[in-house]
Amino acid sequence: MDPVSVGRAARLFRRGQGVLLIVGLGAAILGTVPEIDAGYGFALMAATLSAALLYAAEYAVRLCQAPLDAAGGDTGDGAAANAFRLCLRWAASPLGLIDLAAAVPLPLALSLGATPQAARVFGILWALKLVRYTPAFGLVARVLRNEARALFGVMVGFLIALLAIATGGYLLERGSGAAGFGSIPGALWWAIVTVTTTGYGDLIPATFAGRLLGGFAMIGGIALFALWAGILASGFAQEVRRRDFLKTWNLVARMPLFSTLGAATIAEVARLLRPLEVAEGRTVVRKGQPGDCMYFIAAGEVEVRTETGPVTLGPGGFFGELALMTGEPRTASVTTTARSTLLQLDVADFRGLMAGQPDLVRIIDAEAARRGLAASVPAADAVPGR
Ligand code: CMP
Repeated sequence: MDPVSVGRAARLFRRGQGVLLIVGLGAAILGTVPEIDAGYGFALMAATLSAALLYAAEYAVRLCQAPLDAAGGDTGDGAAANAFRLCLRWAASPLGLIDLAAAVPLPLALSLGATPQAARVFGILWALKLVRYTPAFGLVARVLRNEARALFGVMVGFLIALLAIATGGYLLERGSGAAGFGSIPGALWWAIVTVTTTGYGDLIPATFAGRLLGGFAMIGGIALFALWAGILASGFAQEVRRRDFLKTWNLVARMPLFSTLGAATIAEVARLLRPLEVAEGRTVVRKGQPGDCMYFIAAGEVEVRTETGPVTLGPGGFFGELALMTGEPRTASVTTTARSTLLQLDVADFRGLMAGQPDLVRIIDAEAARRGLAASVPAADAVPGR
């Protein structure tokens, strides 16, 4: 099968899996509503059992496929033992466990004598499959792993605060007659409800000191959750930045324009460039407009509409540099003729980069001359604002 057909088949398979998940999960959930079950019980049960059957079959196929996927189709010497080991490794992986949870409980419950109505509750486990289709979960898991120490530290602080507040509540309220403060475990419920600012209102301190403690607990609780949210937010930002940097680094390292630079310089350049995915037919640069950035083409193709006719630029090419060099408006419009990956360089970073990379200056200068343009990259100290 050619790569295009493979891509199409994979897309179709993913869509089919999405439909199966929606239909199966919907049927398992709606089947528990008595009014709906009374009218559509047969169809819902048929959909639930079909989904269960398909998930069991999918698990079996993935298990058999695991050794081939892991070894790239070759399980090597001692093939049987090796294949078994690879099967086990996949089965114990997070995705393998999710597929197991989706495939086994419902058929197992049926085979142990549960009624279909009772067994379909296990269909809720199919929701776990969403993890498989949501790459962002990988990001969440990574952030939690990276920030585990800080989160654990805040969690321990949280537990200590809860105990202290529960003990304070017990000491201040035990003689007041207020319900629920007769013991530290009893007051712990009040402490949890107060620190999390849930406030059911089932336990209320009667003394002034008890209420004061409650007020501090609420404010402290908000601060604690803010701290937790802050740790997670900065963890996410760091992880996204790291991924973007790796992606840009790879794109930059592959471009002939930067291939002569060492790894450290490529890293420096990658920090300045912002990758952009641009759909086909989009005008990236418009003639006559002021320019505040230039673009390097990592993948795809653009068309420059010059006065002498269209010029096509492909991977490794660049455009938009003239407005930055001369301070004049854009000399031509540039439109993507295919889906393209561009690396955007802002004017301030352009100046910094040119000042530190004489090789790059020479390349851009030569390209401008080749394009038949009068402009030339000025010396580092002559570019305005450098
Ligand atoms: P700028 O003038 O900033 O914006 C339009 C860009 O099109 C220009 O920079 C060049 O990068 C590019 N460009 C202009 N003329 C040509 C040409 N003849 N060949 C290739 N690219 C060009």
